Amino acid sequence: MSDIPGLLDSIKLDKNSKIPMYMQLCNNIKEMIQQGILLPDFKLPSVRQFRDSLKINQVTVVSALKLLENEGYVYTKQGSGTFVSRSIPPASYNVSGDANPISDELYQQDDTFLISNGQIKIGANTVNFASATPTPDLFPVEDFRKVLDEVLERDRGNAFGYQDSQGFYPIRESILRILHKSNIATTPESIQIISGAQQGIDIISKALLAQGDYVVTESPTYTGALAVFKSRGAHIVDVEMLEDGPDLDIFEYNIKKYRPKLVYSIPSFQNPTGYSYSNRKRKEIINLSAKYDFYILEDDYVSDLDFENRNYLPLKAIDTHDRVIFIKSFSKIFMPGLRLGFMIVPSKLTNIILQAKHTTDISTSGLIQRAFDLYIREGYWDRHFKFMFNIYKERYLKITQALDSYLPAGVRFSRPGGGLNIWLNLPYGFPIETLIRQAASEDIVFAPGRIFYSSPHVQKLDNIRLSFASVYIEQIEDGIRKLCDMISRLGNSKGENRRIPLL
Ligand SMILES: Cc1ncc(COP(=O)(O)O)c(C=O)c1O
Repeated sequence: MSDIPGLLDSIKLDKNSKIPMYMQLCNNIKEMIQQGILLPDFKLPSVRQFRDSLKINQVTVVSALKLLENEGYVYTKQGSGTFVSRSIPPASYNVSGDANPISDELYQQDDTFLISNGQIKIGANTVNFASATPTPDLFPVEDFRKVLDEVLERDRGNAFGYQDSQGFYPIRESILRILHKSNIATTPESIQIISGAQQGIDIISKALLAQGDYVVTESPTYTGALAVFKSRGAHIVDVEMLEDGPDLDIFEYNIKKYRPKLVYSIPSFQNPTGYSYSNRKRKEIINLSAKYDFYILEDDYVSDLDFENRNYLPLKAIDTHDRVIFIKSFSKIFMPGLRLGFMIVPSKLTNIILQAKHTTDISTSGLIQRAFDLYIREGYWDRHFKFMFNIYKERYLKITQALDSYLPAGVRFSRPGGGLNIWLNLPYGFPIETLIRQAASEDIVFAPGRIFYSSPHVQKLDNIRLSFASVYIEQIEDGIRKLCDMISRLGNSKGENRRIPLL
């Protein structure tokens, strides 16, 4: 059992408190783990030892340990006992104070700690490299108010009736205008309006996947999509995301072996890596979809944030076999809370996808669709897009410049050319959880790479994702300099009982 003398003695429980005993016990242990008193893989006392020493009920102990396990603080080994997790939930998620709740993919992931906490809280001065979502001060509230007023005046009650499940026809026409730069040729009849890209992924999974089906995804990938595929009981086959897209030999091997119905792909400025498929891989993957009869779900969440003119072709633009379901999110450029996006659907799938949309929410809000249609038609969208593009580009240039200046030798990143994320590769075995805690104590937050993997078996622990969507330009250089100093110190010190050479 515990080789820390007095561990059980230091646990303080108050029988008169309104907080249930199992929660008090859970909080006591959690604090010791967060403070580094209990280190990874440390074996906790047995249930009986807790029970006898603390004079509490066995059920109380079991419930506390279960809660700790659900929250990711401990793991159990059948027949051996309970141990402290190797990667504990980052302390930054507890940052409180004068806080704004930030809603993004970080808490859609399969991490019960985050879900049970409900939201990540970020203080007013936090340097937020964690959220890949724009901040509310950038939302075009005044312009949107104008189009909303105009729609209410023009459409009156019609804006509030049930809408066509496929979407308000005029907005499907307007979307063709937004698409003109992407080289995608389509018609309003192939467009399906959705309440955000996340709903699109869910609807497609509902329409195409049955329990036990296989889905091939990049690894790492967007956690919200992984959560959907898991919720449908699908098996996820991971193919490593390289700097120019997945290795296609490995990809084809997996396709032959598992015969998936669906491949989930973020080909441009992928989340979380920022990497993009080369145009050659794009063409090959389209050919493979016809050869092996699978559909590709192309998740386009930021392809238009192409700061270095890489001019990647969307898969849908070269989809000669009508095998690509293209999903477009507006959340990163517009206002994520509107819950609006669209899909371009292969003709063979329009009916089943329409049915799945209907059973999900009948239709996306008619008021929001009408207002957004007017927003595009009156030219606001083009203006707002340019505004956001310039802001993000400025931040992109600043963060890449700061990383070039301050990153210690041995830490790598590959310039993505666009998007909102940068993926840092730290040396093998780097104490990332300690970095998270130290950074949080300086009010700097970021996403640990581990959360973007489908399971602990494929999880890599040497990466972090830095997003620049929510960080202000004035904070970037100082934030990166501090973070790099911490990385350097941790890499060269004997902290956490090990020495990790950064070179
Ligand atoms: C790759 C990717 N796809 C989809 C989404 C969800 O977008 P939406 O807000 O449109 O549902 C996100 C959000 O972070 C994302 O990163």
